[in-house]
Amino acid sequence: MKINIQRASEITSFSIDIENATLLEVLTYIKTKIDSSLAFSSGCRSGVCGSCAMRVNGKEVLACAYKVQEDDLIEPLRNAPIVRDLVVDMQKSYAFNKVAKAWQTTLNEEKIQTLHVSPQQAQINELQSDCILCGSCYSACPVYSVNPEFIGPFALTRAWRYVSDARQNDVEKTIGAVQEKGIYDCTLCGECIPVCPQNIAPKQDIVMLKNKSGVLGYMDPNFASSFGGFDLSF
Ligand code: FES
Repeated sequence: MKINIQRASEITSFSIDIENATLLEVLTYIKTKIDSSLAFSSGCRSGVCGSCAMRVNGKEVLACAYKVQEDDLIEPLRNAPIVRDLVVDMQKSYAFNKVAKAWQTTLNEEKIQTLHVSPQQAQINELQSDCILCGSCYSACPVYSVNPEFIGPFALTRAWRYVSDARQNDVEKTIGAVQEKGIYDCTLCGECIPVCPQNIAPKQDIVMLKNKSGVLGYMDPNFASSFGGFDLSF
């Protein structure tokens, strides 16, 4: 079997004698038997840690979950600096979780006394909690590719995960944090959905954040500018 790997500015082809293997198994084989200089990231080897995300034939996959096909082209994720070969630096997209204030805030005493979380409420953000920060959604996002300050898919999904949590104390702070370079910059193209290995739909979470923003009195600046910048706050 032949596979092709994008390394720096050139594509290197490898002939390997393994069948029915995952991409991570093939990369490990190449590194241990053929070329020890090949660089890639991995951790859990079972689709949990998110560190082995890369692209195959232009689509984001987890290397440990993808079965290699003849003549596949393997490339690093897009929209992140390449460290070497298939390893990219994800620090910038991780930092967007902080920009979006996407974390659990402590309940105040009054809320602790009165709070009752039903089993249904507890399930609302179960899916979003499964995000493994693999970065596939940032790689696939056409907005992030031209606007590197866009908060981006997984940070906005994480923001919704906490905004929708009945135990969250300061929803307004997170909603306020995703107005600038956040929810209104998303074009709702949906490219982030099919690449998510956890079946999360960041686009839907962004829609939910937009709805919540409307409830809290925020307005889509694109809507306001379509009225020529008139003051619509009557
Ligand atoms: Fe952890 Fe692939 S090695 S998700």
